[in-house]
Amino acid sequence: MRRLTQIRRLLAFGLAAAAIWPAPAVSGDTPLSKIVESCAVCHALDGNSRTEKIPSLAGQPNFFLLDQLIFIREGVRPVEAMTPFVKNLKDEDFIALAEHYAALPPKASEERVDPARVKRGEALALRLRCASCHLPSLAGQEQIPRLAKQRIDYMYQVMKDYRDSRRKGGDSIMAATVYGISDVDLLALAHYAASR
Ligand code: HEC
Ligand code: HEC
Repeated sequence: MRRLTQIRRLLAFGLAAAAIWPAPAVSGDTPLSKIVESCAVCHALDGNSRTEKIPSLAGQPNFFLLDQLIFIREGVRPVEAMTPFVKNLKDEDFIALAEHYAALPPKASEERVDPARVKRGEALALRLRCASCHLPSLAGQEQIPRLAKQRIDYMYQVMKDYRDSRRKGGDSIMAATVYGISDVDLLALAHYAASR
């Protein structure tokens, strides 16, 4: 927990620095376009993932992206496949990346959305108050991610990870929210969110 606090402090410093030196389009040693190309292998060039269980980044809140990139690089949220791509990037690169993806328009994936699941998911979302944090549009805010138009297979997986305490570095508030919810209901929530 202390580690997380330290990282959040670092992050606050990064944000303050970004406000003083506005919008560095290119920073660190690698141009932003080159870095984005390397991310596109998995997250697609337009930030709307076409790969199973890989999240879309387009339209995610700037703060959320920055937060997660730092967590992933520092190993607080270990994502093995991604580590080689972020381990040498600097905070300045992350600030530019977060700004880049936050500005891209989110598009629904090619996955089939099931109307019956959407309906069940909508009722559940109301009961579990997802909108109180993720907003009624499910567009997310600050460090809370966008769920609208996110991939179904990714959200389903990640909610199971939260529920079963398998998401390392994840916020315990999410684990508490989906505690005891069945697989069928988590899938319904994922269909509902994707349909928004
Ligand atoms: C080899 C594939 C791969 C590459 C390349 C990759 N990522 Fe990822 N990324 C993933 C996977 C897989 C996850 C989700 C892991 C999980 O299940 O929690 C992820 C998660 C993320 C997240 C968290 C999103 C969320 O909704 O929780 C961000 C932000 C992110 N990646 C940004 C980037 C950026 C920026 C780059 C380029 C510097 C990049 N990734 C390169 C595979 C990749
Ligand atoms: C009290 C606030 C709160 C509530 C209520 C809440 N969430 Fe979250 N949610 C968060 C936060 C904060 C995160 C980011 C957590 C992290 O860093 O691991 C998150 C993350 C997620 C993620 C991961 C997305 C990604 O891109 O990695 C999913 C999926 C999700 N929430 C779905 C839901 C659903 C569905 C509901 C309602 C059943 C819900 N949340 C209710 C705060 C909340």
